[in-house]
Amino acid sequence: MAYRWKNTLNAEDVTPYSAYLNRRQVMSGLAAGAIAGALPAGVRAQDGLDPNTWEEITSYNNYYEFGTGKDDPARYAHRLTIDPWTVQIDGLVDKPGDYSFADIMSQMTVEERIYRFRCVEAWSMVIPWNGFELADLLDWVGVQPLAKYVAFQTALRPDEMPGLSRPVLDWPYVEGLRLDEAMHPLTMMATGIYGRDIPKQNGAPMRLVVPWKYGFKSIKSVVRITLTDQEPPASWNVANPREYGFYSNVNPNVDHPRWSQATERRIGGGLFAKRQPTLMFNGYEDEVAHLYEGMDLSEFI
Ligand code: MTE
Repeated sequence: MAYRWKNTLNAEDVTPYSAYLNRRQVMSGLAAGAIAGALPAGVRAQDGLDPNTWEEITSYNNYYEFGTGKDDPARYAHRLTIDPWTVQIDGLVDKPGDYSFADIMSQMTVEERIYRFRCVEAWSMVIPWNGFELADLLDWVGVQPLAKYVAFQTALRPDEMPGLSRPVLDWPYVEGLRLDEAMHPLTMMATGIYGRDIPKQNGAPMRLVVPWKYGFKSIKSVVRITLTDQEPPASWNVANPREYGFYSNVNPNVDHPRWSQATERRIGGGLFAKRQPTLMFNGYEDEVAHLYEGMDLSEFI
């Protein structure tokens, strides 16, 4: 599925792409030219995104199944068994079934996409994901005409996930998207970061990434995907509907009841770095605003 999108970042975010390639060269030992040649045009069009470091992306995480501390996932997620991994795809689809991660990967085109990531806690990162479009997976299993929503579920493994012993959320972690959001070409299932397999603390072996929504919509370690005609439950919305809506689109004009969403702190910017203004739909307004035409975005949060 070919798709091009504009680079919507601010001037401050812009660094030469060569700097990014140099870092990759160091990491992978490959020639920068070879990598640039291998990148799809859509990625090259995003020159100027300056990703966070591997260290930042993999050591400051939210994955409450492993604890609520930012360093808990990096400390405990190694306990998660990800091989074998099966994803149950069911509901309103033509080919329901239990699909192995390997089977899914054999059918999907993996590419790299550098996305802004905006957490509801008002911090942000830029992450070079590898993965495939969720739409390609949904097309492969065949979405039936009555389907209106997609529900997702994370693994529930009390033996491997120490955080499950605490009733922070109503486990398992679940999320949902409207079908048009799920089919949008920006929506991806991430399976890697910086060209390596996605680390367990970031949601191995595959996690959702929806770049115009707050980070909590990006559910990790997905074991079940269900096509349905009903709006599915979403963990944070169930836990606290006053603070977290079903849509959770990044919106600097609608404050969280306990803090402002107008600005964000870029992780890695240093303690005294200036906060950046948060952009409507996290900077992806041109690509996604049409999905919400006619909806009052201060009501449908
Ligand atoms: N998925 C599961 N299963 N459990 C979680 O606690 N946290 C969410 C989201 N997905 C979470 C989850 C939140 S609040 C955020 S901000 C992102 O994961 C963090 O993703 P990252 O650790 O890759 O930055």
